Amino acid sequence: MSAKTDVMEASEQKADPRWRSVEKTMRQHGYHANGLIETLHAVQEAYGCLDEEALRRIAAELRVALSHVYGVATFYNYFTMAPPGRHTCVVCMGTACYIKGAGEIMERISKEFNVAPEETSDDGNLSLLSARCIGCCGQAPALVVDGEIWGGLSADEVIERLRRVLNDA
Ligand code: FES
Repeated sequence: MSAKTDVMEASEQKADPRWRSVEKTMRQHGYHANGLIETLHAVQEAYGCLDEEALRRIAAELRVALSHVYGVATFYNYFTMAPPGRHTCVVCMGTACYIKGAGEIMERISKEFNVAPEETSDDGNLSLLSARCIGCCGQAPALVVDGEIWGGLSADEVIERLRRVLNDA
């Protein structure tokens, strides 16, 4: 996985608003191993994929063997260990973001860049994903593009910025 999309180091995760939804999920399950699948879902929704650092951290926090975490992460098709596209765009479709136009943003990106939600464009340039809540509702509508949070942008602004990112490929 590229450095741009790494879920990131444990120390950075603490300061990352996206990791808050992961923490929240673990907390809701009392940091118990029973919450493993939900926690992996939370990582995938927040970051668009799973990576080694996130799996290590989850294994430590939930006190389960790393091999077991890998086993679960690779058993279910839903989980991806790396985003297939060169760029990844996660559109938050949580309530706060939806109210602020996330649906339109998702539709516009899909049309503009010819990629269906939850898929990768034919040229392999963009993976378009959705999430329920990435933990920064104050910045709604929120997106995560190549690991960077974009908040409070109109659909036009998102398209404009995304076009620049994709053309830099
Ligand atoms: S609903 Fe989008 S960040 Fe919370």
